[in-house]
Amino acid sequence: MRHRPLGSTGLTVSELGFGCASWWGKPQFGEREALGLVHAALDLGFTFFDTGASYSAGEAEPRLGRALMDRDLSRLVIATKAGTHHAGGGRIARDFSPAAIVASAERSVRNLGVEGLGLLQLHGPAIGELNDDLRAALADLKARGVIRALGVNSFDPAVIEHVIGLPDFDVVMVDYNVLRPEREPLIARAAAAGKGVLAGMALAMGHTRPLLSRLKGPQDVWYAARAFARHRDELARGARFRFLHRQPGVTGSQAALGYVLANPQVSCAVFGATRMAHLQENARASALDVSSRLMRQIREAQEAA
Ligand SMILES: NC(=O)c1ccc[n+]([C@@H]2O[C@H](COP(=O)([O-])OP(=O)(O)OC[C@H]3O[C@@H](n4cnc5c(N)ncnc54)[C@H](OP(=O)(O)O)[C@@H]3O)[C@@H](O)[C@H]2O)c1
Repeated sequence: MRHRPLGSTGLTVSELGFGCASWWGKPQFGEREALGLVHAALDLGFTFFDTGASYSAGEAEPRLGRALMDRDLSRLVIATKAGTHHAGGGRIARDFSPAAIVASAERSVRNLGVEGLGLLQLHGPAIGELNDDLRAALADLKARGVIRALGVNSFDPAVIEHVIGLPDFDVVMVDYNVLRPEREPLIARAAAAGKGVLAGMALAMGHTRPLLSRLKGPQDVWYAARAFARHRDELARGARFRFLHRQPGVTGSQAALGYVLANPQVSCAVFGATRMAHLQENARASALDVSSRLMRQIREAQEAA
């Protein structure tokens, strides 16, 4: 597994990160299997794990804590998120008040069983919520060692643009994958400002493959329902990228991750997986170089999309 610097934080991370969210964190997905995936990721050299206080209705973060119990955490960067929480009945509530963010960060430390958070990311804040009071509270969390690095996860380019101009934020997480080449100028500006850049949804949630061909287990039905509810645009765009899955010597997922990793301004491509074979297959993307022929094909499909 290759590693990259996380912007100017002084931290180094595996260039592939394991996302502990969604189906992975749900009680319907067995604890033994979920923990086994994290342990396998550790064995494969992953040092970056991404979760969030609200992920999997609040179940993902403590589950990651259980997976990391008794493991050597010294080389790991454990990232979580604050500002959203599970409000019951499948609802996610937002609260970016300083008191809520501080309480969330302190709870995350306990859930994860760490001394401090490698990275705390605000989870989808509005620009107006990044006010002086909140930034002072975040600076205090850093000074107390509760958090090492500070970031924002947003899929709103205006928010990321704003954060690029704030020196106290070290990292941005954006939705970057083959379907989102329009993020590249933003990523370039973030990297030039010294921010670490995380590509969330690095596999475009699997939407480069036809939906019906993916429906094999309960997790696939769950991902399909989420796609219909929230990601129809990705479903439609993905249809132009079926060729990724017909390449010699490389699988479609490896090609998709290889595309993200070909961007040197990305610190880490974060994906989710609930199948061991997927995790193992994806880990091999770290050693792959995307051929110039495949990169040309991807660019042509992006222009047509
Ligand atoms: N989605 C969001 O809105 C969001 C927002 C902020 C941050 N993030 C971060 O980004 C991470 C990844 O997001 P995500 O899980 O939504 O999307 P993703 O990683 O782009 O896609 C996950 C989907 O890809 C499938 N997959 C993984 N490896 C595969 C392989 N080798 N072959 C075929 N299918 C494969 C998974 O299937 P299996 O489960 O069957 O392995 C799952 O259905 C999250 O865990 C989180 O840390 C996501």
